[in-house]
Amino acid sequence: MSSGEPRSQDAAERLLRKLKEIVGDNHVLAAEAHMEKHLVDWRRRYRGAAVGVVFPRSTEEVASVVKVCADAGIGIVPQGGNTGMCGGAIPSPDGHSMVVCPGRMNRVREIDPTNNTMTVEAGCILATIQEVAADNDRLFPLSLGSEGSCQIGGNVATNAGGTAVLRYGPMRDLVLGIEAVLPDGRIWNGLSRLRKDNTGYDLKQLFIGSEGTLGIITAVVLKLYPKPHSQLTALAAILDLDLALALLSRLRSELGDRISNFEIMSRNEFALVLAHNPELVDPLDAASPWYAFIEVTDTIVGDDLAAALEESLAAALESGIATDAVIAANLAQAAAIWRIRHSVTEANIASGFSISHDTSVPVSQVPTFVAQVDAAIAAALPEVSTYYVGHLGDGNIHVVVVFPRDTYATQDHFDDGVRAANAIVDRITVALGGSISAEHGIGQSNVGRLLQFKPPLEIEFMRSIKDLFDPRGIMNPGKLF
Ligand code: FAD
Ligand code: LAC
Ligand code: ZN
Repeated sequence: MSSGEPRSQDAAERLLRKLKEIVGDNHVLAAEAHMEKHLVDWRRRYRGAAVGVVFPRSTEEVASVVKVCADAGIGIVPQGGNTGMCGGAIPSPDGHSMVVCPGRMNRVREIDPTNNTMTVEAGCILATIQEVAADNDRLFPLSLGSEGSCQIGGNVATNAGGTAVLRYGPMRDLVLGIEAVLPDGRIWNGLSRLRKDNTGYDLKQLFIGSEGTLGIITAVVLKLYPKPHSQLTALAAILDLDLALALLSRLRSELGDRISNFEIMSRNEFALVLAHNPELVDPLDAASPWYAFIEVTDTIVGDDLAAALEESLAAALESGIATDAVIAANLAQAAAIWRIRHSVTEANIASGFSISHDTSVPVSQVPTFVAQVDAAIAAALPEVSTYYVGHLGDGNIHVVVVFPRDTYATQDHFDDGVRAANAIVDRITVALGGSISAEHGIGQSNVGRLLQFKPPLEIEFMRSIKDLFDPRGIMNPGKLF
């Protein structure tokens, strides 16, 4: 762990002066009020403290910043868009860390349409990368509710998932190369644009999902895909999750990889989102226990995709797999349907004290997982509401437990409730061969649960890797371990 600290105000001042010499006076914050938004996570779960917040403009500046901080023996906390779910980008409250934000490093360094790659700096916003890819008749498929503010460096560091994993995989599948500044200030140029490279251990994969604990990612080479020219969104009403799996299976056999998204939501979550967003309307006539949000895409122009989807959904309705379905007639309707899906997080937060699990189980086990969790939470915590939303095709379900503010009026009571709910979800997850974190990571929220559920041999190797890269433990102290 972080060994030293700026032992005095003088040492802190000296450090800040050196950082200003590297990045310029305007790009170092030290006043509490100015640092505020970098010291609290967006859900306001974690509040940290820091010597300062620094905004380098280039890889070389990051390297110099890291060297100066390493010499001073203080922790370094990389922070992207600060949209993470697990408090990974928030420094510890001891105030002995420097927050390093690559947001000014937002250049697209290169697009190679023939190689289907794009080399971008870590501070690029995900939505901007999607737009630049589209302008070049390509697709960068990663898609998250936070895409307007999260940064690609953060996406890589958290191995982000989102709604297009079903077809394109998580971030881990979308990166060909990485450039990073190591904890001793050296620059590792691993910006390979190769799709095949069998020369030993794949170091970039260690950085994907490392949550800022091995170094600061400064640039990445991303894989691009052909841009779809036909794109359709559908919303289907389904009675239960077995039928949802049957629908997914049917659509995949009939439409193959054209199914790019298949997300599910429980009725109570759907109703909550609509209640919190009066401008959104329910596109279906009657309420349904479950909903599937479906997107199909194809590079071929024309009506073939619509005909195939209509036929598939009609057959599903006829055989009772779905009870109702609507295909968006235009882009605005499609966007309105996806807005329902992407508004869950804000709606949950607004509805009470909430926790969101990020479980994955084998896809076939999702119905059992949800049935067991639902029954066990209702029995143990009758006052809470449990909602479900997630990426069915990936076996990744977010169990959202909302604790009513009147029953859970004190922090202690809330903490007890959270512990009980966590224990239930974790027990069932483990029994079904699942993972406690499918896509959000460990950060500071899940450190204890990682130690509890990861096999000791894997923890031993993870610690050895951390020690190898960062023997002084200065990179993002207190996260992951
Ligand atoms: P931050 O929150 O700033 O940081 C996250 C972690 O990465 C921290 O540990 C930080 O230290 C590290 N880090 C950041 N930048 C770097 C860097 N350059 N080098 C090294 N380490 C770095 N996540 C999903 O996976 N799927 C979803 O569907 C999804 N939906 C979301 C919806 C909403 C509305 C919101 C608010 C969040 C959602 N998230 C989702 C979570 C979050 O957006 C992702 O985890 C995202 O990848 C974080 O990116 P960021 O730039 O905000 O990273
Ligand atoms: C989602 C985020 C919470 O799937 O991962 O909505
Ligand atoms: Zn998710």
